[in-house]
Amino acid sequence: MELQGKRIALGVTGGIAAYKAAELVRLLIKQGASVQVAMTEAATHFVTPVTFQALSGKPVFTDQWDPRIANNMAHIDLSREADVLLVAPASADFLAKVAHGLADDLLTTLVLARDCPLLVAPAMNRQMWENPATRRNIATLCNDGVTLLGPGCGDQACGESGLGRMIEPEEIIAVLIAHFQPKLLAGKRVLITAGPTFEAIDPVRGITNLSSGKMGYAIARAASEAGAEVTLVSGPVSLPCPHDVSRIDVSSARQMRDAVLHRVANSDVFVAVAAVADYRPAKPAGQKIKKDGSAPAAIELVQNPDILADVAALPNPPLCVGFAAESEKLQEYAEKKRRAKKIPLIVGNLIHQGFGGDNNTLILFDDDGQHPLPPAPKIELARQLVARIAILLEKR
Ligand code: C5P
Repeated sequence: MELQGKRIALGVTGGIAAYKAAELVRLLIKQGASVQVAMTEAATHFVTPVTFQALSGKPVFTDQWDPRIANNMAHIDLSREADVLLVAPASADFLAKVAHGLADDLLTTLVLARDCPLLVAPAMNRQMWENPATRRNIATLCNDGVTLLGPGCGDQACGESGLGRMIEPEEIIAVLIAHFQPKLLAGKRVLITAGPTFEAIDPVRGITNLSSGKMGYAIARAASEAGAEVTLVSGPVSLPCPHDVSRIDVSSARQMRDAVLHRVANSDVFVAVAAVADYRPAKPAGQKIKKDGSAPAAIELVQNPDILADVAALPNPPLCVGFAAESEKLQEYAEKKRRAKKIPLIVGNLIHQGFGGDNNTLILFDDDGQHPLPPAPKIELARQLVARIAILLEKR
């Protein structure tokens, strides 16, 4: 319920993606938002108002002369009651009208009369999107402070393929949730490691650690929501990349270290969440080791580089944040690790909760002492960690 209590005015314009707006309303309601739908006349040719009324639980408005609003001020009342006005799908025609300040139907009038932010998710044929007139209109809208969601790239209803698809309802929800988060890391660049590493024994076997990557991915999402430019260096996990985060996939600890060192100079913050394998086989076999008795009796191991310690030891390190997953004596071991790696903040957790869950319990350790974060979903904890990071950045 990450949009609990939020009031969303949703404009739907005429385009085949209007059918996805029905799913969008369902997801908004599921996240706790209240949704007031306004449709253009063209949109009603694709989906009927009854569909949106059933999903939102509220009457749908299509006409600025609608007698259901007693004072006939639908164009003012509907957006004044909203925290945000979202238009999805937003057709080329609608965007052109808004760019020029036209107000010849209920939705464009709502846009002009609003006192809340406007977010638009364009949906149109790729050539309409690339047309110089649309390009000019989009530039005007961006200049006017309108937030653009997408468009995406891929197959289009007309049979063509290219840029112009409405982004998926799930992505629109992610952008909306981000919209309401405080921009504590605006303008900052954050580099994060997440997931396990995999150290090959032979082409099909290896040494790895138990790690779902969920905490690291949640931190990447929370940092991005807070306005940071986020790069996520990820070991092998099966998680989707958070919206607006650039992900670099790696496998071994040495690949992870190379990817981190390549990018760290531009980073303000480095958060090492990855469960890096401490050791790797000294000489991985080039071919699969057979079960015929020819396998070596022992696998010789060599120590992996400590990525976090290496970054913290750079001449001008970013603000470094480490993790300490311990099975006992959390405070003692976490503080010891913080001092050994010379980092300002370490995040401790006891691992008896198991791996791969959606919730966690953390304690933050820094120069000011301990800050316990009670059990909560990982994304909530990640947002609290981001808030702490923002405080430490201020103090730097
Ligand atoms: O030393 P230890 O593995 O217990 O420390 C955990 C912290 O150090 C985590 O933040 C982890 O991401 C980071 N780490 C690392 N490179 C390693 C081992 C751990 O960055 N080789």
